[in-house]
Amino acid sequence: MFKTDYCGDLRVSDEGREVTLAGWVNRRRDQGGLIFIDLRDSRGLVQVVIPSEEAQAHAVASEARGEYVVRITGKVQRRRAGTENDKLPTGEIEVRATAAEIMNSAKTPPFYINEDADVDEQLRLKYRYLDLRRERMTRNMVIRHQVVKYIRDFLTDRNFIEVETPVLANPSPEGARDYLVPSRNYPGNFYALPQSPQQFKQLLMVAGFERYFQIARCYRDEDLRADRQPEFTQLDLEMSFVEQDDILQLMEDLYTGIGAAVRPDLSIPAPFPRLTYAESMRRFGTDKPDLRFGMELFDLTNAVRGTEFIVFKSAVDSGGAIEGICVTGGAAFSRKEIDALTEQAKQLGAKGLVTIAYNAAPEAATEDDIKSPVLKHLGLDMIRSIGKLADAKAGDLVLIVAGVGGVPVKEPGSVTRVKPALDALRRGLAEKLELADPNTLLFAFLVDFPLFEWNADEERWDATHHVFTSPKPEDIDLLNGDDLGSVRSNHYDITCNGWEIGSGSIRIHTRELQQRIFDVLKFSDEDTKMMFNHMLEAFQYGAPPHGGIAPGIDRTVALYAQESDIREVIAFPKTKSAQDLMTGAPLPVEQRALDDVWIQLAPKKD
Ligand code: AMO
Repeated sequence: MFKTDYCGDLRVSDEGREVTLAGWVNRRRDQGGLIFIDLRDSRGLVQVVIPSEEAQAHAVASEARGEYVVRITGKVQRRRAGTENDKLPTGEIEVRATAAEIMNSAKTPPFYINEDADVDEQLRLKYRYLDLRRERMTRNMVIRHQVVKYIRDFLTDRNFIEVETPVLANPSPEGARDYLVPSRNYPGNFYALPQSPQQFKQLLMVAGFERYFQIARCYRDEDLRADRQPEFTQLDLEMSFVEQDDILQLMEDLYTGIGAAVRPDLSIPAPFPRLTYAESMRRFGTDKPDLRFGMELFDLTNAVRGTEFIVFKSAVDSGGAIEGICVTGGAAFSRKEIDALTEQAKQLGAKGLVTIAYNAAPEAATEDDIKSPVLKHLGLDMIRSIGKLADAKAGDLVLIVAGVGGVPVKEPGSVTRVKPALDALRRGLAEKLELADPNTLLFAFLVDFPLFEWNADEERWDATHHVFTSPKPEDIDLLNGDDLGSVRSNHYDITCNGWEIGSGSIRIHTRELQQRIFDVLKFSDEDTKMMFNHMLEAFQYGAPPHGGIAPGIDRTVALYAQESDIREVIAFPKTKSAQDLMTGAPLPVEQRALDDVWIQLAPKKD
């Protein structure tokens, strides 16, 4: 047998056993007569002691260096009293070596593997196989496995079956750009890697599988950031004969269940609160609110109506908005901190930031108690009433963003940049002031999203999520009118701590309604036929009412692993410019390979 045990599994109950271990030298300390090796394998670390009396093992241990691969035989013994290590699960014991063998040497790694130090990200990605050896990454990969295993068992117990859908799929407009795969057999034609298995899963419902799921790889060529990768994984699921509540309850059971199984130390309050899209936008300025702290938005557009202060007046007169947040204790911020907030607001698209620091309760405040560049413009009375509206206390700071209306009138949610700016300020301040408990996962469901959103660039309506989402039955008549922005949908999101974790909907399942949505979106008959004919046809053969959801696995695992970037929970992620620094992909290919798929490269643009 190559090895009898894993290093990380040994305990006091193994005392006296002879074991053979194999793994990597995590650390080696040579005290002359005695050499200590912390031996690491996939399940953890154990201390090996190699005394000089064991001449063969000692000679080998003298030669070994960090990250060498070694095999060691020896006896498990208790550590001497006082030398136990309570930070290690194996810390009560050690292995006294009787034989050792070097199985492979190792160059000095480009960064420390045995320390949780900050390492340059580029270097980590280039040597990802070494990065993955580090404790934090190994732990994250194990959590990922546990989460996915829990999901598979949970859904299997509830009569779901896992079905694989194609990766060489059909191009389809789902929001992001498709990754295209040229066809050799059909010159000039392309497969697309799926942005999600949306159409296939609906067709599986038509096929009669009432409960489907898949741990599905999805591909989207879009701008990347901390919660986005060009390829990522979804828990894609779909059910027939269900209503919104069935799906949301299933998600609540799943996410609390994963927590209990994988991170029982984290707090996951249930039932998950439900907010309508409109309420969330009003209170938090976003459809993925972090509910772990307050600092809610308040609207002072009406309260300041009539003021001559030009910033507010032009917002009011143009039908814009003036909203703010109140930062508890923020009156103590320095000039520099306030300037930084103002700069941040401008970068977020706001024209500026109005700040009012209250050094006394607003109702009792005198001019001396107020620190604000707009005191003289607004007057004490107005400053006081804004403070009351904001529910400010002595020591608080009120931040206000005013946005001129009029352009783009039909964009839902944010007529101006006011809400996005305040949302970002709110999140940034919560981080700075440590307002959110990192050990709480506060999930929520967002419901009643608008079905359409105005695309200001192209001056047309788009489906807010995708074209298969059904409208609320009571809003169907609004499809005939001009105000498509007021049509609500049966779309829902699951969010947590300021992240969108998943989204789904009750779908359209009749040909008539589906065709009507295509018409409203002004898809040409030709486009509809090419892209969606199979869906329209399928709906004619007894399509059941159905709905589903697709939470992102990467974001889900990041939550339970308490990581803020999904790259930390993906074995081989891409950089923010979609490169694989380890393999070098994307890479050029030979002209012959391009010829096969009928591709001729255009000259490079300067
Ligand atoms: P949606 O496009 O909202 O819905 O995606 C669902 C979830 O997938 C995850 N996700 C991503 N994760 C990492 N990197 C990305 N680039 C990325 N894009 C999306 C998110 C997101 O909430 N077919 C529908 C679902 C449905 O209606 O059932 C869909 O794909 O966690």
